[in-house]
Amino acid sequence: MTTTERKKITVPEIARRRSTGERISMITAYDATFAHLVDAAGVDMILVGDSVAMVVQGVENTIPVDLDEMAYHVRLVARARPKAVIVGDLPFGSYQVSPQQAVESAIRLMKEGAECVKLEGGTNMAEAIEAITRVDIPVMGHIGLTPQSYHRMGGHKVQGRDAGFEAGGRERLVEDAVAVERAGAFAMVIEGIPRDLAKEITQKVSIPTIGIGAGPDCDGQVLVLHDVIGLSERTYKFARSYADMRQVVIDATAAYVRDVNAGVWPDDSHSFH
Ligand code: KIV
Repeated sequence: MTTTERKKITVPEIARRRSTGERISMITAYDATFAHLVDAAGVDMILVGDSVAMVVQGVENTIPVDLDEMAYHVRLVARARPKAVIVGDLPFGSYQVSPQQAVESAIRLMKEGAECVKLEGGTNMAEAIEAITRVDIPVMGHIGLTPQSYHRMGGHKVQGRDAGFEAGGRERLVEDAVAVERAGAFAMVIEGIPRDLAKEITQKVSIPTIGIGAGPDCDGQVLVLHDVIGLSERTYKFARSYADMRQVVIDATAAYVRDVNAGVWPDDSHSFH
């Protein structure tokens, strides 16, 4: 089915998937070109993720990207007018200060075309989730390996392997999931935790869980586009590349360079007369 044939997907429809059992597919995109392509492929949700920092801006983690930059990328994706739901990711520093700051940042991304926002955190972010949902902006939670907690975790480290109620502990992650649901989130990303814990959380909450590095028992899955199409330099245990776009780009560019150097590009048929 092409993007023009399928119906617009909405947040309530995604929320209902928990009871219908229909799985949810989400992938990142950061610009109009790729938003068009992933939408044509039939994805349910496009996450304008703060992973843009790592895969587009070339930095080591998601901490540096700011709200102005995220607003810009949301605007680009929204211009593709996808049938998929657009999720605007709230960057580090744009919601942690106070619930009021969280609401203001969420409104900013919605004005650029987001249809819901995502933020990282569990019990510690419940007030922010409540405040944003109170102004009728749907919120997607994100618990487990929360990349904005890079320095607390000591890197992008799998969470929930150890028992405990401190941040990243197994019991704490169950508490986090419950807090995110109670605060009013319509769905939550669960990232980088053991499969059995992701299953336990998915059974415990009644909103859809969307996993990344959390095994197959979640209600949906999300991956970073650049990993899926093989544009990333690194490979990860939790990701799969379904194509080798790095090689495609290198080969095509090398062929172009060869033609230019050989003086065979452009030929007469590509010239104006
Ligand atoms: O920013 C992002 O791409 C994300 C996903 C990894 C869930 O938050």
